[in-house]
Amino acid sequence: MAVLVTGGAGFIGSHTAVELLNSGKDIVIVDNFSNSKPKALDAIRKITGKDFKFYEIDYLDREKLEKVFEENKIDAVLNFAGYKAVGESVKKPLEYYENNVSGCIVLLETMRKYNVKKFVFSSSATVYGQPERIPLTEDCKVGGTTNPYGTSKLFIEQILKDLYNSDNSWDICILRYFNPVGAHESGLIGEEPQGVPNNLMPYVVRVAAGELKELSVFGNDYDTPDGTGVRDYIHVVDLAKGHICALNKLDKEGSGLFIYNLGTGTGYSVLDMVKAFEQITGKKVPYKIAPRRAGDIATCYSDPTKAKEELGWTAEKGIKEMCEDSWNFIQKNKE
Ligand code: UD1
Repeated sequence: MAVLVTGGAGFIGSHTAVELLNSGKDIVIVDNFSNSKPKALDAIRKITGKDFKFYEIDYLDREKLEKVFEENKIDAVLNFAGYKAVGESVKKPLEYYENNVSGCIVLLETMRKYNVKKFVFSSSATVYGQPERIPLTEDCKVGGTTNPYGTSKLFIEQILKDLYNSDNSWDICILRYFNPVGAHESGLIGEEPQGVPNNLMPYVVRVAAGELKELSVFGNDYDTPDGTGVRDYIHVVDLAKGHICALNKLDKEGSGLFIYNLGTGTGYSVLDMVKAFEQITGKKVPYKIAPRRAGDIATCYSDPTKAKEELGWTAEKGIKEMCEDSWNFIQKNKE
């Protein structure tokens, strides 16, 4: 029996593949390298000392996807094959809905055809829109997303709820990620955004490395302790481990639909992150205060109690490892 990992060469997919192999599971990876590189697959093999089957296919290609189910005994699916650049999603809404929503539907239909009904979905804290209250619990209202990327996550969550209502034998776990950062401690896998990064941590790292001149801090007039945006940054290895706990939960329950926040429960401001990064790496991160970025909110952090109680999962790595490992990755992967 194997776990199918779509998008397994990407940032979160590759880290989760490592944790799956380390926990003794067999995996099959599907990826089309639209936002990842083949070397991530070798890195997964190197870190774990284990091998796995790989298919270079687009998960929207139904015929090829069916072949994967024909050729392997798949018993659960983890879907990391989504596009995730917020700004790009505003410019290319159809591409985002096609890949994220239609792709997920093709995957679910294929699963149904082969009677595989265990599914873990990568959702995002973005589905909470403007937070109803802080810290965010899973029962807070969702909706009011401000871009097609976020809306695609919201749509898929609804599709999964409708699917479960139509057939209670599905076993589904929706994981709402907060802000994933960091990299594997080996420095062999990490986040490699194409072009100029949009997210804070990849940008900070490139400024520290001298590849970008300075960071623009998007607004210092928010209602937060230092006026800059507050987020719940979570180390990608902790996040990856959350998926193993989710799979264990699905194995135990047999059927159901479960939703969990994966965050640390601690909020750090943009300037907290800059200062921590400087202290931990000894590198300067020049910055300027810039106008607010459209669609941003002041504060977003999780209440991770439900994941702790029901999955036995808590984030173990702190801001030190997040900064160290992000820095280590870029040092080891200079072109
Ligand atoms: C964004 C997305 C979210 C997605 C997540 C991970 C939005 C509204 N949300 O979250 O849907 O799941 O990325 O991909 O885009 N910042 C700066 N300067 C920068 C970059 C960021 O000051 O150059 C600030 C932002 O204003 C924010 C914080 O840093 O306060 C974090 O930003 P970012 O890393 O982009 O994540 P989110 O906006 O929280």
